[in-house]
Amino acid sequence: MEIIRVKNKEEGSQKAYELIREALDGGAKVFGLATGSTPELVYEMLSESDVDFSDAVSVNLDEYVGLAGDHEQSYRYFMEQKLFNAKPFKASYVPDGLNEEAAEIEAYEKVLAENPVDLQILGIGSNGHIAFNEPGTPLDSVTHKVELTDSTIQANKRFFEKEEDVPRFAYTMGLSSIMKGEKIILLAFGEAKAQAVKDLVTAHTPDEAIPSTVLVDHPNVTVIVDEAAAALI
Ligand code: GLP
Repeated sequence: MEIIRVKNKEEGSQKAYELIREALDGGAKVFGLATGSTPELVYEMLSESDVDFSDAVSVNLDEYVGLAGDHEQSYRYFMEQKLFNAKPFKASYVPDGLNEEAAEIEAYEKVLAENPVDLQILGIGSNGHIAFNEPGTPLDSVTHKVELTDSTIQANKRFFEKEEDVPRFAYTMGLSSIMKGEKIILLAFGEAKAQAVKDLVTAHTPDEAIPSTVLVDHPNVTVIVDEAAAALI
């Protein structure tokens, strides 16, 4: 696991931006994308650049169950606003929050099998979750429906009018689905991520209690961490 320490979110986002461009120039065709506030600036930098994703495919990590793609809090909508409208991909896959569970799991696993991810971007939750794989998720999990933990609901409620509006369930790529990515870049910015970063970089073996530690066994992971998030390492 390579750890790149940067001063702040701006510097870290610039670094991620460069790695994405490098991957695209090097022939990467499938980009695994994440939502959340962490990658927002990277998407802004890409949107304002001359990058061309029209021959590439994007695959997103997760989506809230019950939200349509045009709902303002859906992850599909987030991606359109932050990146896809400015930089369209040949195809952009995000789980369908309105689809029935078994059908969506089957459909998304098919998408992943047909579009193996070359470069996966990840954020991290303060409890160590990646995508919506909460603590206790089996390391060999594939796409599944998850009940969000209270800590995730609390962290995400800032985007909703009121806490009751935060969906309680999500569809998410599983930990083993994420591990199939050829290269993974995890971004962590801000002091709220310091413990999660410490738990990740000090782990020697994967621990289901801390989902991010599945990455310990991946051969090509880069963690970009700013000063605040690196405070405990
Ligand atoms: C959400 C997303 C994750 C994201 C995490 C951290 O739960 N499902 O993919 O990494 O939150 O979010 P943020 O980047 O806003 O801190």
